[in-house]
Amino acid sequence: SQTRSQKTEWRYNSLVMDTFNRRGFLKAGAAGMGGAAALLQAAAAQTPASHGALRHILPMNRNWLFGGRAVPGCSAPDFDDAKFQRVTIPHSNKIFPWHSFDEKDFQFVSIYRRHFKLAPQPGRRVFVDFAGVMTAATVTINGHKLGEYRGGYTPFSFELTPHLKPDAPNVLAVEVDSTERPDIPPFGENIDYLTFGGVYREVALRTVPPVFIENLFAKPVDSLGDGRRVEVKCLLNGQATPAHTLKVELRDGARVLSSVEGPVSGQPLTLSNLGAIDLWDLDHPKLYTVAARLYQAGAPIDEYSTRIGFREARFTPQGFMLNGKHIKLRGLNRHQTFPYVGGAMPARVQRRDALILKRELKINLVRTSHYPQSTHFLDACDEAGLLVFEEIPGWQHIGDKAWQDLAVRNVDQMIRRDWNHPSIVLWGVRINESQDNHDFYTRTNAMAHELDTSRQTGGVRYLYDTELLEDVMTMNDFGFPLRPPNHPLYLNTEFNGHMFPTKRSDNVDRVMEHALRHARVHNQLASADGYAGGIGWCAFDYNTHANFGSGDKICYHGVSDIFRIPKPAGQFYRSQCDPADEIVLEPCFNWSQGDQSEGGGIHHAAIVSNCDHLKIHVKGELKAEVEPDRQHYGHLPHPPFLIDLAGEHLEDWGDLRIDGYIKGAKVISKTLPGNDYDRQLHVEPDDTALVGDGIDATRVVLRVTNEYGGARPFSTGAVTLRLEGPGEIVGENPFSLAGGVGAVWVRSKEAAGVIRLHARHQYLGEKTVEIRVTPAEAEQV
Ligand code: GAL
Repeated sequence: SQTRSQKTEWRYNSLVMDTFNRRGFLKAGAAGMGGAAALLQAAAAQTPASHGALRHILPMNRNWLFGGRAVPGCSAPDFDDAKFQRVTIPHSNKIFPWHSFDEKDFQFVSIYRRHFKLAPQPGRRVFVDFAGVMTAATVTINGHKLGEYRGGYTPFSFELTPHLKPDAPNVLAVEVDSTERPDIPPFGENIDYLTFGGVYREVALRTVPPVFIENLFAKPVDSLGDGRRVEVKCLLNGQATPAHTLKVELRDGARVLSSVEGPVSGQPLTLSNLGAIDLWDLDHPKLYTVAARLYQAGAPIDEYSTRIGFREARFTPQGFMLNGKHIKLRGLNRHQTFPYVGGAMPARVQRRDALILKRELKINLVRTSHYPQSTHFLDACDEAGLLVFEEIPGWQHIGDKAWQDLAVRNVDQMIRRDWNHPSIVLWGVRINESQDNHDFYTRTNAMAHELDTSRQTGGVRYLYDTELLEDVMTMNDFGFPLRPPNHPLYLNTEFNGHMFPTKRSDNVDRVMEHALRHARVHNQLASADGYAGGIGWCAFDYNTHANFGSGDKICYHGVSDIFRIPKPAGQFYRSQCDPADEIVLEPCFNWSQGDQSEGGGIHHAAIVSNCDHLKIHVKGELKAEVEPDRQHYGHLPHPPFLIDLAGEHLEDWGDLRIDGYIKGAKVISKTLPGNDYDRQLHVEPDDTALVGDGIDATRVVLRVTNEYGGARPFSTGAVTLRLEGPGEIVGENPFSLAGGVGAVWVRSKEAAGVIRLHARHQYLGEKTVEIRVTPAEAEQV
């Protein structure tokens, strides 16, 4: 079979110089340090109030003290933390510029401390739940070390009960190891992304009775048939007795559709006779609630609820079927990192990414490359109707036995955390692009199939001759034309990426070619049912290590930039939607008479659009009528248009107007000025209201455009920001535009009021936006 270096060579031969630096290193052997991992039981951090009144979930994200580098004794209760910085979770151990920084700067062990009082909890157990700490966390309560959890992408809990002091101050200390420890996946070798560090997902205290519902798997069965039902497995923690019973309900809002009661036998309880049910699908992602109640001698003692959707999702030899309907998968890979703070963004920002992918890039599938991502992101995928391929942490390298044990545990924890999300249609149970490893992958597949019989497994590889232990062949294929499928169930999981990194401000020929490469691959994927579809590399530019990327710690592989603003390649994805959803017409160039190609003008000017006919005017005069390029892109729902905008079009130079038609009717028009220059500063917040909890945040896009709102990809001016009110800027200030755009995030403080963000451009003046901040509930601990 191919080795990693052969892969490099193949890529190099197949096209481009960009590959050259990336994969020269083939280091042999496993690097794991071993050591028995404390296999801790994980519990997903619950959303507050989602489990009814019986279960007390107390968010604990405010008033943490961050001490920077850990020193000996820093977890002791009486350690002097008076000089620590007060921070809010999600928190990044280091704030960065959006590019060109030293990635070593987050790789240290830091100390977080939290003082809290908790009213006495007679007869109850108390846990602390961490949704994600990068990369290992040693947790101590009141001087008692509870253990170390290894892994930055999965949740974990520790029981605090015996160590708590009722009504007296308690000290929770977390030593966070954000070094790239070779004993923890994905580390041990080079990886092409940054993990960043810190307590970067939410924390909560949870108080429960001695026997409680730890987790619940509500599995819809026969969603399309007459036997439609939900099999509900309630996983209990504690010593259950015959006096314990369960009641489970299926609800649509407040309406109870079905309910069932039973003993806590370990057998699933089945909700049946559901009546009319709406399926979960891409346009109508209907969600229901399954709520379980635990009783002791007839009295309710605990409650747990989750959302589910009814859908049947299968990869078949005819492609991917959702509810019996063939869907060609048009996807993108997403890294979870953001500029400035890495992964440490709150729910609203995580959720926004799902909306950007679904509503702006119009894709139908996202791969959470290369690890389990925020549950807020997955919740939004459920709500938006965006399919998900989720996978375990890892990148090319497989470590020793202890490392592999952690990876198998990651399969377990990923699935237990996320098995109720209807958006997830495939579990990735291999280390991305690793070599075959029969024993290891037999274990990961067995784990996935044992936990969840309803979903197929995949595992992303680049080796064409490979042992398939998964259900679906999920293959990275960076060449063009694509290889034929080597299995009846075949999904392309990466293409393009490092073969053609592209910045918005690159030469127009490159920027257009970037868009057309994505178009070409999707065209081929659409040409045969044997391809279930494809997931392009990637959605957003991302920060990476020095030995990858373009030299400024960024891989410019995104169809959108690191701020999530689409490049023309992103506009190609957008243009594939049905015009009933949105009419799209985007020239992939700026209109310049001068130097773009030989002789001036643009010879193959690409316009991505879901119109069926374009009329091109220069200076008001009709110059050309164009049809979509069906000859080269005929399998796409909406082939791009290619037109020669050189030669005669340049003689009588002036505004270029493109009118888009559908079935003979003019539906859209865009003008590109003949005299194009920076005219307007736009300041666009994603949200106009935030919650004043010190965590909530929203992106504010900064953009310079011409008079018609068109892109100015070479604009570089600085925008100086001034913020008034209960908020702060996460990002650079002044912000120097990159390719005419950029973004900062505005985060609320713990107060209500109005944030005013003033943005000033030296030549284009000042714009102000207002963001209302509503009061937040106080944290109870
Ligand atoms: C793949 C890898 C991705 C990313 C991509 C860049 O080999 O799986 O993580 O590095 O290349 O094109």
